[in-house]
Amino acid sequence: MINHPLFVRREPEPRKVALDSCARRLAKSLMCVSLLLASAAATADGPPVTTQIVDLANKMDGVHPGFRAFHAKGVVVEGSFKASAEAAQLSRATLFNGSSIPVTVRFSDGSGMPNVADGSPAMPRGIAIKYHLPDGTDTDMVTNSFKFFPVGTGEDFRDLLEAIVASPPDAPKPTKLEQFFGSHPNAPKAIGSLPIPDSFADEEYHGINAFIFVNKSGQRQAVRYLVVPEKLVHLTPEEAAKQSPNYLFDELKQRIARKPPDSLEAEKKLLFMPTNLAAGIELSDDPLPSVRAAAYAVSFGRRSQPSSASSRPDNMNGHTSDGATHLSTVSP
Ligand code: HEM
Repeated sequence: MINHPLFVRREPEPRKVALDSCARRLAKSLMCVSLLLASAAATADGPPVTTQIVDLANKMDGVHPGFRAFHAKGVVVEGSFKASAEAAQLSRATLFNGSSIPVTVRFSDGSGMPNVADGSPAMPRGIAIKYHLPDGTDTDMVTNSFKFFPVGTGEDFRDLLEAIVASPPDAPKPTKLEQFFGSHPNAPKAIGSLPIPDSFADEEYHGINAFIFVNKSGQRQAVRYLVVPEKLVHLTPEEAAKQSPNYLFDELKQRIARKPPDSLEAEKKLLFMPTNLAAGIELSDDPLPSVRAAAYAVSFGRRSQPSSASSRPDNMNGHTSDGATHLSTVSP
């Protein structure tokens, strides 16, 4: 279940941008999403690194048609976001102008297994936010509960996944994973410090990658996003082991009003892209967002195949397809 990379290269000290994203309304319309083409070219040795990553994710966590290669288990809610005045001083992006911006949000467990237990250790939880801007465009923030990244490049992430796949419990010592950890000491630190929250709402989510905010005067500021909860509550692995396999999703359901469900339909069509940025937010020289975007496109392409969609079970997350069991809104 070790399944996501961290990123530790040094950037100019970023400012924290607290996201007051209060999801309030049911996801009521399906997102119209176009498949972005992966730009990575095949190498002489085989498919592009990003395709290799998705293939390895499928080896590690299994092939689950219709589901994301990572963060397979998720739920979609809708809400609104209002930026503080300070944000507009940093970026001219419309989402920071202080008006109420509708958002579509997907909470997720980081594993590629749709039925993973929510309390699993060494697994990030994610929140992906799509801001619907007044001009009809979107901008995305894709964050998770890793505090820092285990690796700094797509190649290293591929190698980490390869090492995990090559290190089953009966593998001879030192295992490939132990060897990888030996040469990449930040990786075990990052994975070992992943918390287990008592609720998706009581977790802190990190943007990890650096972006550049540009304000109306053209001033540039490197930032990393931090999504902060009202309170941070973590469980010990022992406490987590006593929770039901769907406790995070069940708990979220209790926080929100119930309305007719379309979370399952919405998440199939949704694609959150770390590189989908509004004017006023730019990529930095951080290499990871483009690697991520290419891998997300590969995963989206696979999960959107008609055969994938039709074979997708409608009881993911252990919920039935009964309307009352799915999430609608979430309180702040
Ligand atoms: C080399 C680095 C990474 C790779 C290759 C990678 C790969 C992927 C892939 C293939 C997906 C499934 C996309 C889809 O089908 O829509 C995904 C989802 C996701 N990733 Fe990453 N990822 C990387 C780094 C990160 C980082 C640094 C974060 C957080 C800061 C992150 C957070 C997420 C989240 C929250 C989702 C779920 C998005 C959703 O709800 O649709 N990933 N990742």
